[in-house]
Amino acid sequence: MRIRVTPVSRLEGRVEVPGDKSISHRAALFGALARGRTEISGFLEGEDCLSTLEAIRRLGAEVTRKGPGHYLVDVAGQPFWSVLTGDESLRRRPMGRVAEPLRSMGATVVGRDGGKRLPLCVGGTRPLKAIAYRSPVASAQVKTALLLAGLWADGPVTVEEPALSRDHTERMLEGFGARLEIERRRVTITPGGELRGQPVAVPGDISSAAFFLVAATIVSEARVTIANVGVNPTRAGLLDVLAAMGAPLARVPAGGAQAAEPAADLTVTSAALHGSEVGGELVPRLIDEVPVLAVAACAADGVTRIRDAAELRVKESDRIHAIATELGRMGADIVELPDGLEIRGGTRLRGATVHSAGDHRIAMALVVAGLVADGSTVVDDTGCIATSFPGFVQALNALAGRPCAVTSP
Ligand code: S3P
Repeated sequence: MRIRVTPVSRLEGRVEVPGDKSISHRAALFGALARGRTEISGFLEGEDCLSTLEAIRRLGAEVTRKGPGHYLVDVAGQPFWSVLTGDESLRRRPMGRVAEPLRSMGATVVGRDGGKRLPLCVGGTRPLKAIAYRSPVASAQVKTALLLAGLWADGPVTVEEPALSRDHTERMLEGFGARLEIERRRVTITPGGELRGQPVAVPGDISSAAFFLVAATIVSEARVTIANVGVNPTRAGLLDVLAAMGAPLARVPAGGAQAAEPAADLTVTSAALHGSEVGGELVPRLIDEVPVLAVAACAADGVTRIRDAAELRVKESDRIHAIATELGRMGADIVELPDGLEIRGGTRLRGATVHSAGDHRIAMALVVAGLVADGSTVVDDTGCIATSFPGFVQALNALAGRPCAVTSP
C-alpha cells in the first residue's frame, strides 16, 4: 500500500485518536494475570494490540469483545512453557536485555542467537529468585517484564533504570493491587498479593496525536484540537519540546480527575518554529515521537540536535537511519548521528517517493512531511500504519477538508 500526499495550506477541526498502544497492551496482559474480570474501554484495535489479545487467548485467557474498543478479559495464569516469536521486524530486535535478567531470576530462556533473539522458548519456575537489577537502558518494556516476573519471586524485585521510562506499568499495577515502592528511577515490587481485575479506561495515544500536533504547527493556517489525549508526564516530552520551539499549545483537562492516567484536550495552531536541543532525561519521554519531531525541525529556523537516542536504532526499524535517509530524499538538511540527528531547518521540502521501512511511525511522519513539501509525495509501504493508527488517513483528510492523502494498493 502507498499514500500519495499533496500539500495543504489549511488544517482545521477536532479529532480523536485511537487508544494508547502502551496502555492497551498492559490492560490486556495485566487483565490476563489478574484474578477476576478486567473490563477495558478505549482499547486500541490496531494490529499490535490485537496480536496481544490473541497471545493471551492462546495462553488461556478468555477475551470477549463487547463493542468497539470494549473488551472483557477473564482469568488465566498457570506455569507452562511458551514459544514466543514475531514478524521479521520483531525477530530482528534485541531480547537479551529481557532474557538475561529473567535467567538470573531462574527462568529458562533459550532460542536463536544464543537466546538473544526471537523465536525464544521460555519456561518458568516458581518461585523465581528475587533480584535488584540495574538496567543499562531506559526501557519501559524491560522494566515491565521484570516487574511482572517479580509477582512470582521469592522476595522483592527492584529495577533501576538510567533515566525514567514511561510509568504506565507502575500506575496500572498499583490499580490492580500490586505492592510497589517507587523512588523516581527505581521501582520495587513485593510479591505476595494477587492482582485483582479492574476496569481500565484507555486514553487517546499521544504518540498518534503527535502527527496532528506537528502537522498543525507547520501548515500555514491551522487550528486543531485533539480530544482526550493521554498526557502522562513520562510520555508528554513532545509537548514540552514543541512549546520550547514556539508552538502555541493549549491543554484542557479531560477524563476523570481520579483516572490513573491524566488526559487532556490539546489545541495547537500554526507557528513559526525555532530549533531546539533535545537530549538526556527528556529522550525517553518522547522516544516514539522523534521521527515526527524531525519533520517539525525541518520546518523550524535554525538547528535542532537530538542526542542520547540510540535506542531508536532498535525500534520497529532503525528510526535514526530511516528518517534521515527519507527526509534527506525530500531535500532536508539532516545528518545522522550515532545517537540521534542534527537538522538544519528552514529549507523547503520537495515532494519525492519515500519509503516507510515497514515502520508505522516513519510512514506517518513522512505523510506529515508531504503536507508541507512542494509537489506531491508518495510514501511507499504504508500498510504498517494499521499497527497503531487505523483511520489515520481519514482523520487527516477530515482536518484538511479534502483528500490530501490518498491510499492506493
Ligand atoms: C513501550 C516503551 C517504549 C516504546 C515502545 C512501547 C512500552 O520502548 O518505544 O513503543 O509500551 O513500554 P522502551 O521499552 O524502549 O521504553
